[in-house]
Amino acid sequence: MVVLGIESSCDETSVAVVKDGAEILSNVVFTQVRSHAPFQGIVPELASRLHLEVISQIYTQAVEKAGISEKQIDAVAVTNRPGLIGSLVVGLSFAKGLAASLGVPLIGVNHVLAHIYAPHMAFPEIAYPYVGLLVSGGHTMIVHVTDFDQISIMGTTVDDAVGEVFDKVAKANNWGYPGGPIVDKLAKEGSDKAYNFPSPVLRRAYHPLDFSYSGLKTAVIHQKEKFQTALGTPSPNDLAASFQRRAIAILTKNLEKAIEISGMKSVVAGGGVAANSYLRAYLKSLPEKGIKAYSAPLSLCTDNAAMIGGIGYRYLMRGDRSDASLRAYSQVDAYRPYKKPSVVA
Ligand code: KG4
Ligand code: ZN
Repeated sequence: MVVLGIESSCDETSVAVVKDGAEILSNVVFTQVRSHAPFQGIVPELASRLHLEVISQIYTQAVEKAGISEKQIDAVAVTNRPGLIGSLVVGLSFAKGLAASLGVPLIGVNHVLAHIYAPHMAFPEIAYPYVGLLVSGGHTMIVHVTDFDQISIMGTTVDDAVGEVFDKVAKANNWGYPGGPIVDKLAKEGSDKAYNFPSPVLRRAYHPLDFSYSGLKTAVIHQKEKFQTALGTPSPNDLAASFQRRAIAILTKNLEKAIEISGMKSVVAGGGVAANSYLRAYLKSLPEKGIKAYSAPLSLCTDNAAMIGGIGYRYLMRGDRSDASLRAYSQVDAYRPYKKPSVVA
């Protein structure tokens, strides 16, 4: 079965051709980063206009690269939630037109579920249930995952998303956009002990696995001198490394708690921040503690349509279909609150 995936929820226009949910025949990603870079952040109106300009070319390229004819497409899967509404509408409208003209099913996909599904495309051995770590520019969540479309939230951010903080720290220091990969690179040449940035203090009774990043953001951007440890003047590399160490430690501390309270023995990480080398190194060390860990391949961490085509196949196989009334939604669906399962397989 060949599923064509379409992704346009933020600042990447992407079209992919995926066979049987895992074999990526093409995954064309057009990033708008250069257009948004002068503003050091995404300008939503600009994003939707740029999607509109390129989407049909990206589609043609994806089909050509896959070496298939349009007639071989069995379904069209498209991100319809959550994201920037104007950007989502471009991909969704294109998908609707395409599905209707090819006479194939249309499948609306939740972008968050697709990020968590992405590692499955590289590691077919991943078994449910597991602790999912979804870290991106828009989300910071620890989730209990029991199937490709069944997640419940164990912890989420009460303020900023982790990727957003990487972007804001880079912006405040004029390091460029997007901040995540830049901080990651700078940190490689720096000392992560030059500053001892604070961990958030949340009311534990209410937020046992929630995250907060606004305090770290303020500390790094406005109060860094207060947290300096070494003598002399730390370099930008030292600042990046110290910030990154704390940003990732906030994640891993709660992740460890989630593993402990759920009793689950595997962790699966997806989303743009799952590309972070420091986080990936930590996840690689988890098997030493008896925990299996899987990170999405780098090409499937940041936004891409292959993960949309991948999870779209699962819906297709189950018989799920969307119709022409499918709408775009800027917000994530309300997930069920986490309850510890009585039996953990
Ligand atoms: O998943 P994604 O492409 O878009 C959303 O769904 O939000 O994630 C983009 C985010 C940006 O905030 C970017 O700075 C961050 O992922 N990111 C990273 C790295 N690569 C991308 N953050 C930390 N380290 C990285 N290597
Ligand atoms: Zn994303």
